[in-house]
Amino acid sequence: MNSLEHRIVLITGATGGLGTAMCKKMHDDGYKVVANYRNEEKALEWQKKLKEEGYDIAMYQADVADFDSVGRMVAKITEDIGPVSILVNNAGITRDGAFRKMTWENWRAVMSSNLDSVFNCTRHVINPMIDSGFGRIINISSVNGQRGQFGQANYSAAKAGMHGFTKTLAMEVANKGVTVNTISPGYIGTDMVMAVREEIRNQIIAQIPMGRLGGTEEVAYLVSFLASEHANFITGANMSINGGQHVY
Ligand code: CAA
Repeated sequence: MNSLEHRIVLITGATGGLGTAMCKKMHDDGYKVVANYRNEEKALEWQKKLKEEGYDIAMYQADVADFDSVGRMVAKITEDIGPVSILVNNAGITRDGAFRKMTWENWRAVMSSNLDSVFNCTRHVINPMIDSGFGRIINISSVNGQRGQFGQANYSAAKAGMHGFTKTLAMEVANKGVTVNTISPGYIGTDMVMAVREEIRNQIIAQIPMGRLGGTEEVAYLVSFLASEHANFITGANMSINGGQHVY
């Protein structure tokens, strides 16, 4: 048995571009990978495709914006497979628009899917992690939570809030074997970024010193490192991975 198979990794929003790369990398590392999804039809297709590529990923449905829905999912994972050792809070959405036109619904949708979700998922796994003496919480934030972005008052607020959460929880559980960190990717070649109008996207790429979008696997390798025991002493950190777009 691979020595990491006993470690269960739960990746939320797993069927997106970043989530898929993370699932593959963590599976390659030897973890038991559990993918959370919201949309059943898309998820089944995704699971089939990954299976054909040799990836055996368990799938569990929950709306991460809903505390009770996450609670039911975590209880089922625990019963079927075991307790979650590594949680990657990756699920997120955009509802971009200039603030003067932003609706309450688009504010709430982003805050609940991108920030409430971090509370909802982490709250349901943290105590078993503490009890077992090992745990990893890895929050996927964004360069736009570090620096702001025209059209993303909702998204930037949620992503910046995520890191405040990371810093506090990291302090609270540092002596329990549980680390809590944020990764702040820049513009990565995902569907979410490709949905930005081409001319605006090209303007953004022109601001990236490396002159390109990041690769999903580049973020997945950072997740893998933070999950590993090589990263035992890293907690409360915010790791940028943005091709030099935001250097501070
Ligand atoms: N900076 C300053 N002013 C800007 C601007 C900018 N970047 N973009 C637009 N404006 C100005 C225009 O000049 C115009 O000004 P006037 O009203 O004075 O003429 C006004 O804003 C246009 O406003 P609109 O609401 O009409 O703008 P729009 O509908 O054309 O576009 C938008 C708004 C959809 C938000 C568009 O700017 C956009 O797509 N921006 C990119 C948002 C973005 O980067 N999203 C990232 C998605 S990926 C992701 O989030 C992953 C990750 O973590 C990185």
